[in-house]
Amino acid sequence: MNRDTWGSKIGLILAMAGGAVGLGNFIRFPLQAVNNGGGTFMIPYFIAFFLLGIPLMFVEWGLGRFGGSKGHATLPGIFCAIKNSITLKLIGVFGIMIPLTIMSYYSFIESWTLGYTFFSLSGKFGAELTPDQSAAIFSDYASLKSFWLPYSLFILILFLNGYILYKGISGGIEKVAKILMPLLFVFAFFLVIRVFTLGTPDPSLPDNNIITGLKFLWTPDFSKLGEFKIWLAAAGQIFFTLSLGLGAIACYASYVKKDDDIVTPAIATSTINEVAEVCLGGSIAVPLAVAFFGVAGAVSIAGSAGLGFGFVTLPLLFAKLPFGSVFSFMWFILLFFAAITSSLSMGAIVVAFFSEVVGFSKKVSCLVTMGLVCLLGHWAIFAPGAIDEMDTLAGTYGLVLFALIEIYVWVYLFGFNASWEELVRGSHIKLWSGIKWIIAIITPLYLIIIISGWLYQDAGKVFFLQGVPENEIIYRSLTRIILFIIFIFLSILALRKKK
Ligand code: ALA
Repeated sequence: MNRDTWGSKIGLILAMAGGAVGLGNFIRFPLQAVNNGGGTFMIPYFIAFFLLGIPLMFVEWGLGRFGGSKGHATLPGIFCAIKNSITLKLIGVFGIMIPLTIMSYYSFIESWTLGYTFFSLSGKFGAELTPDQSAAIFSDYASLKSFWLPYSLFILILFLNGYILYKGISGGIEKVAKILMPLLFVFAFFLVIRVFTLGTPDPSLPDNNIITGLKFLWTPDFSKLGEFKIWLAAAGQIFFTLSLGLGAIACYASYVKKDDDIVTPAIATSTINEVAEVCLGGSIAVPLAVAFFGVAGAVSIAGSAGLGFGFVTLPLLFAKLPFGSVFSFMWFILLFFAAITSSLSMGAIVVAFFSEVVGFSKKVSCLVTMGLVCLLGHWAIFAPGAIDEMDTLAGTYGLVLFALIEIYVWVYLFGFNASWEELVRGSHIKLWSGIKWIIAIITPLYLIIIISGWLYQDAGKVFFLQGVPENEIIYRSLTRIILFIIFIFLSILALRKKK
C-alpha cells in the first residue's frame, strides 16, 4: 500500500509543533500556573518536562516510525506489529478513543476562537466593555443561547477539519501548518511586545504592573513544593501541552521515512512547544492580568474563570488599550491557529485508524471520523456536564494511563535494547544513553506515582460522580455509556478481517 509521507522536514516539524502547540499553551498553561502558585508551579513543571515529556516524546516517535515502516499509523496496528495479540489490539483502541473524545469537545472550543475573532473585528469589545458584559457575552456564546452564530461556526469547524484531513498529510495538514504556525508565532510575538511595553496601567496602583506579573511567574516559593496537587497539575499540563498519551505524535511520526532521523525532530517539537508555552503563553495572559488586577486579583479570577480567563478577561483588558480590537483580533486568531492545528492532529489518528486498520477508503474514513466527532460533539455541547466528564476520562486520566501502556509496549515488549537501537537509528545527534534508563525506569515510576496519587485522592469521587451537580449526574453517566458503545463499535471494526 502507498502511504502518504511528509513533503519536507520543516513541514513535518511544523505539523508536529502545530499538533502540540494549542489552546493548552495559551490558556491552560497560564491558568495552571496562576492556580498553582506561579513560580512554584514552574519547578515541578520543568521536572515533568524532562522526566515525562521528553522521554515520552521519544517513545511516541519511536513507536510511530516503527509502526509506519509496517504500514501502521495508529496504536492498535503499531502495538500488534510489536506483538501480535488481540488484547494489545483492543488496548490500542483506547489510543483511538482518547483523541476522538478530546477532539469532539476541543472542536467546540476551537469554534469559539473563530466567533471571538469575529467579535473583535465587529467592534463588540469596545473600550466601554464592562466585566459583567464580557461575562454575559461569553456565557451566551458558550451555552449557545445566541444559537446561530456559535452553532454555525461549530459546524464550519467540523467541515474545515474534515476537508483538511481529506486532503491528507502532505496535501492538507502539512500545508496548513506551514502557513499557520509561522503566523501564530508572529502574532504571539506582537502581543508579547505589547504586553511588555504596558508598564503600570494605573499609576495610582504602582504594584500592579508587568514586572510584578513576571516575578509572580518566575519566583518559586520552595515551602509550597510539598503540595502533591501542584506536582499532579504540572504533570497533567505537560501531557496536555505536548499531546502525549494520545497517539498523535506516533501517528504523525509514522509518516516519516523508515531511516529518517527522529531524535532531532522529537527534540525540536518539544522545544518549539515549550518556547510557545513558557516564553509566549506565559508572557501574555498572566502579566496582563496581574498588571490590571494585581497578583491576588489574577489568582482569584483564574480560580473561578476557567476557560473564561482567555475569553472573558483578556478581551476586557485588550479593550483598555489603544487599538484594543487589533490586539483582541490577534489573540483570538492566534488561538484559532493553535487550536485547528491541534484538532487536525487528533483527527488524523481516527482517519488513519479507519483507513489502515479497518480498511475503509480515505473518503469514507474522513466521513466516518467527522460523523463520530459531530455526534459526540453535539452530545458534548448539549448535555450538561458532558464536556467535563469527557475531559476527566480522556483528557486527564486516559492520557496518563495510556502513556504507561505505551512505555510498557515499547520498552518491555519491543525490548529494552531493541527499542533504544530503534530510537537512535539514523539520528544526527548522539543521544545520552542515560535516557534509555530514564525511559525504562524513571518515567514509568513517575507515572505510577501520579496514578497512585490520583487513585488515592480522587478515584472514588470520580468513579461515583461525587460532588457533581445533581442535574449533571444522568448526563455524565450517559456520557460513559455512549463512550463505551463507541469503544465496542471501534473494537469490533478493529478485530474484523480486513477485505
Ligand atoms: N497539545 C494540544 C494543546 O496544547 C492538545 O492544546
